[in-house]
Amino acid sequence: MREDILGRSRVEDTDELVQFYRRLETMGAGALWTVANDIEPWYPQPKSVPMLWRYEQLRPSVLESASLVSGDDAGRRVVMLVNDGRKDLSAAVGLLYTGLQIMNPGESMTAHRHAASALRFVIEGEGAWTIVDGDRLEAGARDFLITPSGTWHEHGNDSASSPVIWQDGLDIPLVNTLDANFYAVHPDLHQQPGKVVNTSLHEYGSGILTPADRGWSKRYSPLLAYPWERTYEALLARAEVSDGSPYDGIIMEYVNPLTGGSVMPTMGAHMQLLRPGQATLAHRHTGSVIYHVAKGRGHSIIGGQRFDWQENDIFCVPSWAWHEHANDDDRNDACLFSFNDFPVMHALDLYQEAAYTDNHGHQTT
Ligand SMILES: [Fe+2]
Ligand SMILES: [Fe+2]
Repeated sequence: MREDILGRSRVEDTDELVQFYRRLETMGAGALWTVANDIEPWYPQPKSVPMLWRYEQLRPSVLESASLVSGDDAGRRVVMLVNDGRKDLSAAVGLLYTGLQIMNPGESMTAHRHAASALRFVIEGEGAWTIVDGDRLEAGARDFLITPSGTWHEHGNDSASSPVIWQDGLDIPLVNTLDANFYAVHPDLHQQPGKVVNTSLHEYGSGILTPADRGWSKRYSPLLAYPWERTYEALLARAEVSDGSPYDGIIMEYVNPLTGGSVMPTMGAHMQLLRPGQATLAHRHTGSVIYHVAKGRGHSIIGGQRFDWQENDIFCVPSWAWHEHANDDDRNDACLFSFNDFPVMHALDLYQEAAYTDNHGHQTT
């Protein structure tokens, strides 16, 4: 793309140049100025587009998948959410993957591990469990769980009657883009769980104390399960004393309790509360975000496009897209769960943020 600006590439093709480019191509080479303006944009140009996936619309297909293929045959039975602009990477936005996984009553999956990191946000069902490196985690609706890179994991549903559906979030597109993914099936197909369920929650989940004699040196959080009740309590408690962020309302990060940092080196996660009727100001930042409506109803304006959401809907904000959120219920709060690749942005010194600067701070659709 030619730009007639001094300091940018503005070379016009001539017969002589075209022949020169062809000669370079035969040598596995090229002329930078033919692509410079594309590969060095003025600001991020994500291929991903803002999208919203309606749970109500997807749920019947998720249920149908449970009768169409067996868990054993599929490995994991997941309806993945694919961004219109990132089909090449099976990404939901940027370099993040997400999907809706279903497990039938009494069903369990075999154990495996991969270099990609994973997280779960439970949507529905009573008997959900996962075993992560021998720690059996039992989880209910709106609980948040992590499966860090390299940990053995297997999932199941102990309920006698209802399916479990949860949202998976992974950094597969990132890890594949870096050509660093590995996958292994557990040699015994299953792990031997420890005696105490949710061991990591007993050890690291108090919220105000951590073990003084800990021996944890890994880069991911030793706490693997983050229950909804405590999360919501923390949001309500903070709402008593703080206005929160003008862009996000009362927003809190799920953290590694030993460091206060993100739960995993590549992905972070938040839960935010919008007060009844609250509308936030718009901002943008580098990094991609996938939201799950944990509670309530409202709308978000993303890149000038309005998306109305209700409980369990999922939507995404591409990197550097303007976005703002609103709780459309005047009586009840709304909660948004989200996960992101901010830890990568920060680790590589690529995080940037800007506030929307028209007179009112809101975008128009
Ligand atoms: Fe996995
Ligand atoms: Fe944001």
